[in-house]
Amino acid sequence: MTTAPPLPFAPGRAPRLPVWAAPMAGGPSSTSLIAAVGAAGGLGVLPGGYLSPAAFEERLDALEAATSAPWAVNLFLPGPPTADPAGVEAHAARLGPVAAAHGVALGDPRWEDDGIDAKVDLVLARRPAAVTLTFGCPAPELVARIREATGAVVLVTTTTPEEAVEATAAGVDGLVVQGAEAGGHRGAFRDDPALPGGGELVPLLELLARTRAATPLPLVAAGGLMGGADVRAALTAGASGVQLGTALLCTPEAGTSEVHRRALLDRRYPGTTVTRGFTGRPARGLANPLALAHPDAPSAYPEVHHLTRPLRAAAAEQGDPDAVHLWAGEGWRAVTEEPAADLVARIAHEAGLEG
Ligand SMILES: Cc1cc2nc3c(=O)[nH]c(=O)nc-3n(C[C@H](O)[C@H](O)[C@H](O)COP(=O)(O)O)c2cc1C
Repeated sequence: MTTAPPLPFAPGRAPRLPVWAAPMAGGPSSTSLIAAVGAAGGLGVLPGGYLSPAAFEERLDALEAATSAPWAVNLFLPGPPTADPAGVEAHAARLGPVAAAHGVALGDPRWEDDGIDAKVDLVLARRPAAVTLTFGCPAPELVARIREATGAVVLVTTTTPEEAVEATAAGVDGLVVQGAEAGGHRGAFRDDPALPGGGELVPLLELLARTRAATPLPLVAAGGLMGGADVRAALTAGASGVQLGTALLCTPEAGTSEVHRRALLDRRYPGTTVTRGFTGRPARGLANPLALAHPDAPSAYPEVHHLTRPLRAAAAEQGDPDAVHLWAGEGWRAVTEEPAADLVARIAHEAGLEG
């Protein structure tokens, strides 16, 4: 049904369906979720973000033991340390009392590179179907090294046609095109502090059309895809594949925290918003009090991520969703509790991908 160019997967590593489980770091993308999506013919993506290299290695081992289906990995590319340390201090001063009310102190707002070099080395020894990179444009040498060592297709998340052009020049095999509707962090290459979303916030179908015109590369669409009609529209607009994020958050296999699940299913908050308040990078989540209270939070990732971590962990443990990052895309009201394999099969059927 689509005339979009296919991704050049290595022999035996192409998923039967062009339906991917989006990488969701921080818990939701459990081994069983990735394996269930793979067993249903989709492609699960193991997120490497936030994990120590040792924990990432364990997750790779567990996934390889759990599935014989193709799978993929996602890594965060580090940005520079914040240019706004005063903004971080001001944010800390505002959040200190909130943390104290939850019985914890704020964390150390340190910069780090998410262990990217060690994680790349771990991936080089494996056989993923795809390696997706987020939060920046990879150097052409990195793209070539990953492709040559693993045989994987290498993709990068883009949020504008300009980023698509930059990524194409870096030699990637495809793009994960992230529309404005998407839950979680914006994957923009650079976080422009002057813009609340860190960059242009382009709705998915418009972004696919503009990206399609800017690059010949295969595109995998992400953002707000909750049902077969959404998937069909994305494929018709020029995508070769789709990523489901929020749609999978409440499946029984997902490692989503109880407080996050309940906030989604109970419709506790009226909608979503994009905020830097939790991590210092714009991210879309349910519009809870902490998300709404800090429109002036600094552009400082991962400094603010580390600053707020103890607060978010304590709030989640105490069952208080008001101070937890509840990442969710704009389609969140359509979330279901179906098993992941049923959800993938239903969406594929509705989208006309299989009988
Ligand atoms: C809880 C959560 C965690 C996420 N973590 C990552 C991640 O680790 N890496 C990444 O590239 N994208 C991440 N994202 C973004 C998703 O990969 C994807 O772009 C998004 O979920 C698509 O929009 P949707 O949620 O509306 O389906 C995350 C999204 C959510 C909801």
